[in-house]
Amino acid sequence: MINGRTKLACLIGSDVSESKSPQIHNYIYDKLDINCRYLNFSLNENELSDFVTSVKTLKIPGFNVTIPYKEKIIGLLDEIDDTARKIGAVNTVKNLDGKLIGYNTDGAGYVMSLKNNKVDIKGKKILVIGAGGAARGILFFLSKENPKSIHIMNRTKKNAEIVIDELKNYYNDIEYGHYDDKEEYDIIINTTSIGMKSSDSPYLFTGKERAVVSDIVYNPRETRILKEAKDMGLKTVEGIEMLIYQAILADEIWFDTSIDSGVLVDDLKEIICT
Ligand code: ATR
Repeated sequence: MINGRTKLACLIGSDVSESKSPQIHNYIYDKLDINCRYLNFSLNENELSDFVTSVKTLKIPGFNVTIPYKEKIIGLLDEIDDTARKIGAVNTVKNLDGKLIGYNTDGAGYVMSLKNNKVDIKGKKILVIGAGGAARGILFFLSKENPKSIHIMNRTKKNAEIVIDELKNYYNDIEYGHYDDKEEYDIIINTTSIGMKSSDSPYLFTGKERAVVSDIVYNPRETRILKEAKDMGLKTVEGIEMLIYQAILADEIWFDTSIDSGVLVDDLKEIICT
């Protein structure tokens, strides 16, 4: 119920008209009695600065940031949390009494989605496909869970090497992935947008894999890589869960609360995907 004290939270990006974030956040607000509504705003880059001023003027408690502004927003904020600074991207901003603080909940949300599916990370051999912004956040949080090793494969090898060099500051067992290693992995993660706009797969299965396969693409819910993995009898983790967990983590930051995600996640998966 909207009343005189209802707050507004939002998502900004260049085109957020198809984003599922309002469905997720508004459902959470209804369930947990948080007096807030969540909307999407598509902005041009030259509108970012005015937007940030409006957040302060309207006392908006927080907002999310998506493509292509996760890096660009950093320069407009008052403070960046240590993890978001290391990752180099902000997807969540909290307005703390007029001071805007940037966070990154993408990587942590991804790791929560693996844990929710009882996927152990410690001691495992992981393949990450892609080396963009999403990969950086995911890699940072995966590396904190003590996997045995992480390999990165990417269309442009140089981009993977840059990410590997960055991560080596925190985690040693990371290197470029080689085609011959394919069957060795315990967890295979697609962080590229392949599978979103086309029915292509970023990975060619040999048929001998025994890995858990996960994708951060959530539209379609079952991408080609996930379908092929399922057809081979492999365990899969859908991208929709990362989207839900990063949202829950953002609400925890904005509203200084701890959210019991268990039942919410199952409900939200059904709501978003129908
Ligand atoms: P984001 O910040 O959301 O992760 P990004 O920075 O555009 O998005 O990164 C996308 C990742 O997907 C990159 O690793 C990119 O590979 P390149 O480094 O070679 O650009 C990868 N990617 C995107 N489209 C791809 C495609 N059609 N084939 C192979 N890789 C692709």
